Amino acid sequence: MTTKEFLGKDNFTVKNRSVSESCPSNIALIKYWGKYKDQIPANPSISFTLNHCKTNTEIEFFANESFSVKTFLAGNEEIKFAEKIEKYFRTIEPYLPWILKGKYIIKTENTFPHSSGIASSASGFGAIAKCLMKLDEEFTGKTSEEESLKKASFLARLGSGSACRSLYSGLVVWGKSDEVAGSSDLFAVKYSDAEIHPVFKDFNDWVLLIHEGVKSVSSTVGHGLMNSNPFAERRFQEARENFVPMKEILKSGNMEDFIKLVEHEALTLHAMMMMSEPAFILMKTGTLEVINKIWDFRRETNLPLFFTLDAGANVHLLFPNDGSEEQIKSFIQSELLQHTQNNGVVKDVMKW
Ligand code: DP6
Repeated sequence: MTTKEFLGKDNFTVKNRSVSESCPSNIALIKYWGKYKDQIPANPSISFTLNHCKTNTEIEFFANESFSVKTFLAGNEEIKFAEKIEKYFRTIEPYLPWILKGKYIIKTENTFPHSSGIASSASGFGAIAKCLMKLDEEFTGKTSEEESLKKASFLARLGSGSACRSLYSGLVVWGKSDEVAGSSDLFAVKYSDAEIHPVFKDFNDWVLLIHEGVKSVSSTVGHGLMNSNPFAERRFQEARENFVPMKEILKSGNMEDFIKLVEHEALTLHAMMMMSEPAFILMKTGTLEVINKIWDFRRETNLPLFFTLDAGANVHLLFPNDGSEEQIKSFIQSELLQHTQNNGVVKDVMKW
């Protein structure tokens, strides 16, 4: 089904052009897990956009050549990725009617280690969508920055759901929620800065690289398994409901409740995986050891170190810069790094 609002202009002039863009990754606090046709999420999600974990992408477009895509990741040709992008470009043709009128060479690199298991699809599709909107402007004329970002978010979503949230900094919502004005299943919106307590505006996300390498089950397959998961409807409902306390917490700065909610969301995501048919587990021994140590640390010190997980074994360590961060950092170095492969940690912060 096509979405009228984003249909492209039919009068365009294609030209040889080279554009480049950069897009950060994001980490969800209320998770997107389960989707319907045309990349419609089964529930709304909210994420923090990161600062250092980014994808930088350059697209060279050769006008009026027959449609083909070549992709290079960190200098190496990636045939599988090119096939995926070719398919993606064909799906978004109604929104960018010039898109099949040329040849593409796409060069992309991540600022985080490729083998780290940090999802690159969000930053990757975010960067591609931004490049495409630059080309669109060259071929069809200028649009406002606001419209261009909104359409980039719409296009990124069709590549990878979580990517649509990476177009904005700060806290970002994707999926219709009664709690968030203007929210939509089709694109992400920035959560109003005015509704966010200052404690959330200076936050760390240190990613412990527990297991480097390819995951046993991809996100796409994992989303698909929600279709037959007997707990799915309850989960979608819970995620929708979790926006009520989340909104309250973001306003009041109640760290204790924030920690409880964010960790619950992470564990629910992995519980859904365990209750899928066939079941799968993406956490590793190190993931569980780190979680238990975080809980012990909190019990002993009362300091705000907590975790979230994406669809993998790595642990995202979240903690604010509220004066307690030095004690937390030295605990991470002395107690948690030993559970990673090769002392792997990516130190990031939220981007505002
Ligand atoms: C666990 O966006 O990678 O990170 O839409 O199939 O590309 P596709 O899936 P993807 O799923 C990410 C799921 C998650 C939670 C989240 O980011 O909200």
